[in-house]
Amino acid sequence: MTIQGHTLTSPYDAYHNGPLPPEDELTLVEKGTAAGEYLRRFWQPVALASEIGDVPKKVRIFGEDLVLFRTTTGSYGLLDRHCSHRGSSLEFGLPTEAGIRCCYHGWLYGLDGRILETPGDPPDSTLKDRLCHGAYPVREYKGIIFGYFGEPEKIPEFVIYDSYDYPDDKLVPYSLSYPCNWLQVHENVMDPAHAVFLHTRMTFSHFADAWGELPVMDFAETPTGMIYITTRRWRDKVWVRSNDIILPNLAQVGHIWEDGQEAKQFSRVGITRWTMPVDNENCKIIGWRHFHPEVNPRGIGREEDCGLEKVDFYGQTGAQTFEERQRLPGDYDAIVSQRRIANHGVEHLTYCDRGVVMLRRLLRREMDRVARGGDAARPAAAPGPRPTYCHDTVLSIPLLPGEDDRKILAEVGRKVTDIVVNGEHQAAADRVERIRALMRDYEGGAAAKAAE
Ligand code: FES
Ligand SMILES: [Fe+2]
Repeated sequence: MTIQGHTLTSPYDAYHNGPLPPEDELTLVEKGTAAGEYLRRFWQPVALASEIGDVPKKVRIFGEDLVLFRTTTGSYGLLDRHCSHRGSSLEFGLPTEAGIRCCYHGWLYGLDGRILETPGDPPDSTLKDRLCHGAYPVREYKGIIFGYFGEPEKIPEFVIYDSYDYPDDKLVPYSLSYPCNWLQVHENVMDPAHAVFLHTRMTFSHFADAWGELPVMDFAETPTGMIYITTRRWRDKVWVRSNDIILPNLAQVGHIWEDGQEAKQFSRVGITRWTMPVDNENCKIIGWRHFHPEVNPRGIGREEDCGLEKVDFYGQTGAQTFEERQRLPGDYDAIVSQRRIANHGVEHLTYCDRGVVMLRRLLRREMDRVARGGDAARPAAAPGPRPTYCHDTVLSIPLLPGEDDRKILAEVGRKVTDIVVNGEHQAAADRVERIRALMRDYEGGAAAKAAE
């Protein structure tokens, strides 16, 4: 879909700005929309398990009002919020062993939406056998509650990625609410240029000064989506970093405080997070912060600062005063202020935005496939956890006098990416070790070439 925006070319000409064009259909997620139907084909996070105590919790997903609760025996249920009898909210329902009982006239619902009792009716009433209440399948995994919102006969496998079960890693669930459309939050992960400006040069270094060096930026498709590839020379090292998008709305980010100085090959994931549409104008980031000495060697991360509406790095929530956020803006401020639904028709995308353009293209491809009656692309079946591609790699690659260093950096980025994404070692049980060995070989080769 092409959206025509307004492009003014004369000074002092705001008068000729037209109204906003309609929203891109990728941003519209409510039932029956193309993007909404595509996103519903995957297991999606709904809430943190820690949010669900012994009283029900209202949730809103894809514009639907639902209630999430735990039975007295510990199973989770996700039902339409309003009782099928006369609409009382099941937030006031009483969880039982089998499900939840509406407070108003006692209808009892099972986890699958079957009506188990309508106790005010004569014993021979068959109403409960003829009616079902809206329900979605739900499961808990590592502290996050996931739901499946698509057609029941198309329920997919719950895919386990390699980063969910990395040796000695600790996954700490967190969740952040963003009062804006889901796509602008998700796109941020494929926008490496903002790391240079927002995170480093604009006010203060949110992470490390090396982030302020404008990298050679490249982007590549992977078997599950895409990665960005940023390659910087910083002091005597070359630092290659890739964030990973797993289609449609899962993303992974490397070590947040990486400074590109300590030699490493293929250090893994710092954040695994979904951007979950609440409705067209609200979304949540729900995921895990990873705590592992390999991705956080200087021990900067703070587990106790990760959880409901909090995470342990700068600028991710609206918790500070508005003026503080104006003076020292972070991701939250830049993203939420792109309008309630970022309007693609009035943007002017540039060289910096190639990742955003590519992500939209991939999402549109999959969305269209589902709209035409096909199934969304899914990771190939595998005996073990599926590979993911997020990493930081820091190599000693010498400067070559008389050669264009940007060209060398681009080549390093491409070579490292080839090792991370391609080759028969991707399916090997010792994939990580083999990737690391290939990277060390490559680094050794580059050093030898420089010494010639
Ligand atoms: S409104 Fe729920 S049982 Fe009557
Ligand atoms: Fe950011």
